[in-house]
Amino acid sequence: MFSAGSETSSTTLDWAMVELIRNPHVMEKAQEEVRQALKEKKIVEESDVQTLKYLKLVIKETLRMHPPVPLMPRACRQECQVDGYTIPLKATVVVNVWAIGRDPEYWVDPESFQPERFENNSIDFLGNKFEYIPFGAGRRICPGMNFGLANVELPLAQLLYHFEWKMPKGMSSKNIDMTEANGMAVSRKDDHFIVPTVCNPFTEE
Ligand code: HEM
Repeated sequence: MFSAGSETSSTTLDWAMVELIRNPHVMEKAQEEVRQALKEKKIVEESDVQTLKYLKLVIKETLRMHPPVPLMPRACRQECQVDGYTIPLKATVVVNVWAIGRDPEYWVDPESFQPERFENNSIDFLGNKFEYIPFGAGRRICPGMNFGLANVELPLAQLLYHFEWKMPKGMSSKNIDMTEANGMAVSRKDDHFIVPTVCNPFTEE
């Protein structure tokens, strides 16, 4: 519960922030949404997040490109053929969620971060469409899905509402190291520092 429930959410938040820094037009759009929706509010509350449609798309796109659990094992329940290979009964098959999320057969321009791709389409987190399974699928699907999403949505909304984010002086967002590390949840290999500036006057009271 603790490892499945905490690192997955914090890792997703970290990847989302990095992608927003790398894609300033997406950052701008997400910040505009949250600031328009919540203007005059001193703090962002959980109930506010429901109105933030674009922020939810940002998280969806983050989970497509950076699923914190990229490899999911399954046992084969009956012998079958896949691409000419015989998969024997009880063989362990590892589903590569990361590769599926970037497969050009299913995604247009898969290496680019475009939350808009999820606008007006029916792909959700429930594991019914196998091209998008960041929470898994079937009877072992993540039982903490809604809790996990809430753990990302609220802090991300707060970070975007209260702060402007910039790269440290002399550094460009173009060459952020996106190398992944091994671990329970796949995070970035190196910590990355970005500079916040408080932008909401209400937070200073
Ligand atoms: C962004 C957040 C999260 C992501 C992306 C995520 C992803 C996943 C994935 C891919 C699986 C494997 C599903 C499968 O095999 O089909 C899983 C399983 C699991 N997750 Fe999550 N998870 C998240 C948050 C959480 C939270 C917050 C909790 C609990 C507080 C949690 C508890 C679990 C547990 C207990 C399992 C094992 C379920 C089983 O094997 O039956 N997860 N999660």
